[in-house]
Amino acid sequence: MSKKLLLKDAHIEGIRYFETYRKQGGYGAAEKALKMTPDEILEEVKASGLRGRGGAGFPTGMKWSFLAKPEGVPRHLVVNADESEPGTFKDRYLMEFLPHLLIEGMLISSYCLGSNTSYIYIRGEYSWIPDILEEAIEEAKAAGFLGKNILGTGFDLEIYVQRGGGAYICGEETALLESLEGKRGNPRLKPPFPAVKGLWERPTVVNNVESIAAIVPIMDITGAEYAKIGVGRSTGTKLISACGNINKPGVYEIDMTITVEEFIYSEEYCGGIPNGKKLKACIPGGSSVPIVPANLLLKTINGEPRYMNYESLADGGFATGTMMGSGGFIVLDEDQCIVEHTMTLARFYNHESCGQCTPCREGTGWMYKILKKIENGQGKIEDIDLLWDIQRKIEGNTICPLGDAAAWPVAAAIRHFRDEFEWHIKNPELSQTQNYGLANY
Ligand code: NAI
Ligand code: SF4
Repeated sequence: MSKKLLLKDAHIEGIRYFETYRKQGGYGAAEKALKMTPDEILEEVKASGLRGRGGAGFPTGMKWSFLAKPEGVPRHLVVNADESEPGTFKDRYLMEFLPHLLIEGMLISSYCLGSNTSYIYIRGEYSWIPDILEEAIEEAKAAGFLGKNILGTGFDLEIYVQRGGGAYICGEETALLESLEGKRGNPRLKPPFPAVKGLWERPTVVNNVESIAAIVPIMDITGAEYAKIGVGRSTGTKLISACGNINKPGVYEIDMTITVEEFIYSEEYCGGIPNGKKLKACIPGGSSVPIVPANLLLKTINGEPRYMNYESLADGGFATGTMMGSGGFIVLDEDQCIVEHTMTLARFYNHESCGQCTPCREGTGWMYKILKKIENGQGKIEDIDLLWDIQRKIEGNTICPLGDAAAWPVAAAIRHFRDEFEWHIKNPELSQTQNYGLANY
C-alpha cells in the first residue's frame, strides 16, 4: 500500500472545513514553520527533493532560491490552478476536498518567499471551486492564519482567488501572469523567468497546486524524511488522475516505487481494463507527453519493469519512453483508434494556440487537417511523412511549450503506430467503421 501524505485525511467527512481540518492536526505545519526563518524553510524544501507537480518537474527548492529580492520591491506567490491538460484533474480534487491543505501550504510558502499578497489562478471551467477556496480563506482568516500579524509573527498575508476565462494557454505560467494582470493571455519570452520579472514585473514564484500542498507534509515530517519516500530523484508522493479504459477512474496518491503494470491492474488503483480487453497504449502524463504502446509501457527496452516515476517513464528518451508530466494517466484499450485519438488532440492544440508564433499557429491547424483527411479515408501515404515534417518544424521553434505539446503526440503516434496510419490510408472504406485493433503491437 502506497504511503499517503496529501490524501491521508481526504476520506474524513467535513475535512473541507477549518474546524475538522484543524482537529486532524491541520495548520500544525504552519505553526512550526512560522517559528523558523525563511532560509530554514527553504533548506527543508531543498532537502525534500520536491519537483514541480504541474508537469515540468523542476526542483521547487531551486526555483524558490532563484527568486530575486531587490530592496523595496514586493514579491508574489502565484498558485497555478489552471489545470487544463486533458486527462489531468488531480488539482481539482485537492482544491475541492482539501482546500485548507492548499491554504496552509500557501501560508508556509508565502512566509518563506516573502510574499504578502498571493494568488490562486483557477481555470474558469472549475466554476464551483472558487467559492470553496474563498470560504476556506475566510475561515483561515477568522482563525488568525491569514490577514495581519499572523500568529503574532508580524507576517501579513492576503490570498486572492482569480478565475480564468477558459483558455488552456493561461496555464502556461507567463500567459497566466499576463491574464492575472488583466491582459490577453499571451505567453512571454523566457528569460527573464518569473522568479526575476513576474507579476507586474515583480519577482514571482509560480507553483502548481499539488506542489504547494506538498509543502505541508514536508514541514510536518521534515525534508529529509520526505526525500526517503519514493526513489532516486522522484521523491515524496505524486497524485495521479487516472482515466480512459480502466475499471476505477479517479485520483490516486502513489509513492513512485510501483510499476506501471501494478498501477493499471491492481485493485488498489485502476483495477484493470473493462471487459477483459487488452491494453493498447497509454499516455501517462497528460495529453502533451508522448503516447507509449503497451509493450514499451510495461517494460523498458532493457526488459526492466517500467515504474511510475520521472526517470523510469522517461527511460530511453522519446524514442521508447515518455514523461511523468502532470500525472494525467490516460489508458487506451485495444478498441481505440490511434489516428482518431491523435486527430482529436491535434484539434485541441490548434484551438488553444494563442497564435503568436507562426510554426504553432499554422502548424497545429495543418496537422489537424491532415489527420482529419487520414481519419476520413482521404489520406495519401506521403501525408505521414508530411505530418512528421510539420511536427519537427514546430518542436523547439516557438515561444512557449504549447508548440512542443502539439508536436510530441503526433511524433509519438507516427513513431509507434505508423502501420495503423498506413492501414487507414490503404483501407479508406474501413477507415471510420473498423478498428486496426492490436495487429502488430
Ligand atoms: P519549464 O521547464 O519551462 O519551467 C519549469 C519551471 O521552472 C517554471 O516555473 C520556470 O519559470 C522555472 N525555471 C526554469 N528555469 C529557470 C531558471 N533558470 N530560473 C528561474 N526559474 C526557472 O516548463 P513550464 O513551461 O513551466 O511547464 C511545461 C510543462 O507543463 C509541460 O511539460 C506539461 O507537462 C505541463 N503542463 C501542465 C498542464 C496542467 O494542466 N497541469 C497544462 C499544460 C502543460
Ligand atoms: Fe502561442 Fe503556440 Fe507560440 Fe505558445 S507556441 S506562444 S501557444 S503560438
